[in-house]
Amino acid sequence: MRKLLTVLVFGIALTLSAQYQSSLKTTWIEPGSGVILPEFDTYDSIDGTLGVLNASGQVNTDQHAFFTPLGTNGRACVNCHQPVYGMSVSAVSLQRRWVETDGKDPVFAAIDGSNCPSLPQNLQASHSLLLQRGLIRIPLTWPPKNADGSPKPVEFSIEVVRDPAGCNTNAQYGVKSSDPTISVYRRPRMAANLKYVVAGGQRIVLKTGTLADLDPDTKLPVSMNLMSDAREPSLRAQAISAIMGHEQARILPSLKQLDQIVEFESQVYVAQAAHIFGGPVMGEGAPPAMGAANLRDRKAGVLGDNDYDPVFGQFNAAWKGNSNFRASVARGSDLFMNRQFWLRDAAHINSIGLGNPIKRTCATCHNAQMTGQDLSAGWVDVGTTNFPTWTEPSTWADTSELPVFKVTCAKTADPHPYLGRVIYTTDPGRALISGKCNDVGSIVMQQLRGLAARAPYFANGSAKSLREVVDFYDRRFDMKLTDQEKVDLITFLGVL
Ligand code: HEC
Ligand code: HEC
Repeated sequence: MRKLLTVLVFGIALTLSAQYQSSLKTTWIEPGSGVILPEFDTYDSIDGTLGVLNASGQVNTDQHAFFTPLGTNGRACVNCHQPVYGMSVSAVSLQRRWVETDGKDPVFAAIDGSNCPSLPQNLQASHSLLLQRGLIRIPLTWPPKNADGSPKPVEFSIEVVRDPAGCNTNAQYGVKSSDPTISVYRRPRMAANLKYVVAGGQRIVLKTGTLADLDPDTKLPVSMNLMSDAREPSLRAQAISAIMGHEQARILPSLKQLDQIVEFESQVYVAQAAHIFGGPVMGEGAPPAMGAANLRDRKAGVLGDNDYDPVFGQFNAAWKGNSNFRASVARGSDLFMNRQFWLRDAAHINSIGLGNPIKRTCATCHNAQMTGQDLSAGWVDVGTTNFPTWTEPSTWADTSELPVFKVTCAKTADPHPYLGRVIYTTDPGRALISGKCNDVGSIVMQQLRGLAARAPYFANGSAKSLREVVDFYDRRFDMKLTDQEKVDLITFLGVL
């Protein structure tokens, strides 16, 4: 697997012993295997080399809470957050894992590693959403509850109109069960570079005018950028939910375990390190956003939607005049920052007083330096969950595998600004937490790092490749990208 790219990255001579070690390198980490993660490691794939940096030095995973099953199903965090796949997992890696373990790897656990726990677990078809799209079932209590357990007011009713996975209509697991639950299916997000994800936090959420959640420990307003629906206020709260949910624990984790998890995930940085045609992506002429070490060293919470200090910096002349590949990256970076198009009907961007349409760029939404998330609470309805003809024409077809919900908003509620009061969607997103009609379909954008290592993309895995991501935007906003512009954007996204 591992090639000699270390040589490219560091320019050091590769000794025979290093070569020997690299051939033994673990790629998929099994919980409890006790491997030692070095301070810096690189992993090759056909799409380039990923760099994984542990800022606190090498990590002994033996007995470590992130790498040890803390519940009843044999799973640890690492099952779904693997260093080699950008602290996420790719659909291809899961397919390989299915074959290697005959479907027995704990990642496939019935609870959420299958389309529904009620299905026969030995069949591949029962895990199709995980195997084809890398999706984990996310069961959410319906209606949502306040922190004190009281039900939240909800502005809409929700009906399950298609249920190919069978879970939303299931008597035991569905929305009409004794414990009413809505199941949506989402990609594991990167458990890395997290200082950027949790940075910021204003008392009022700009996009909605509502109050931000408070960190239960510090009582300070949180970034509202964790998870696709911002339901977790802090990394600690997230870890507890993951242990009780994904790992099916019966007892709460200890404070020591929680500290160890949060400490580990807060010091691990992931970014592409090199590309097979482009060589190392750091160093001369590359902007200070590139590579994992820069993620470690730079400040979080900086707005990059501007010319002088852009989201991922600027590739200078050394790149532009260099190889075709590097020149393409540099052009892609300029396109991301500067290529204008009409942003239209995107709830929480066009609806917050900026105008509709407005002529802006990718960086208008993906505006936080280093990660390209949104510096303010990041949920936006860009159309990935409710515009089937723009994402994948087959969403509503009989062959589609995602559930489809019909949301009907109360007459007294603020409607969704562009979709009105009756909305069909495969994932109501933030609305499942906020109960607000105008949040239906809004998904918190995730960081644009390590992308090459963790296809497919979007929370619902609807883009199998970066090409499909770019095609989605081209259709959604009628960008009229040329073939060259598409290629440049793809090469650029692939080296982040
Ligand atoms: C079965 C797979 C699975 C396991 C096991 C798992 N996660 Fe996750 N993780 C996910 C999924 C799926 C999401 C996204 C959920 C969503 O968006 O609603 C996620 C999201 C996250 C995020 C949010 C990142 C962001 O940018 O929003 C963090 C942090 C995280 N997980 C950490 C952990 C930790 C810590 C553990 C172990 C205690 C863990 N995960 C166990 C699947 C898993
Ligand atoms: C109107 C705001 C908006 C604009 C403009 C926008 N995006 Fe996004 N982007 C989002 C949101 C919201 C998501 C999360 C959607 C989801 O996961 O379903 C997202 C997700 C993504 C992802 C997937 C990340 C992942 O890990 O799965 C990529 C890549 C991306 N955008 C690239 C771009 C590029 C390139 C452009 C310009 C052509 C662009 N975006 C323009 C809001 C925007």
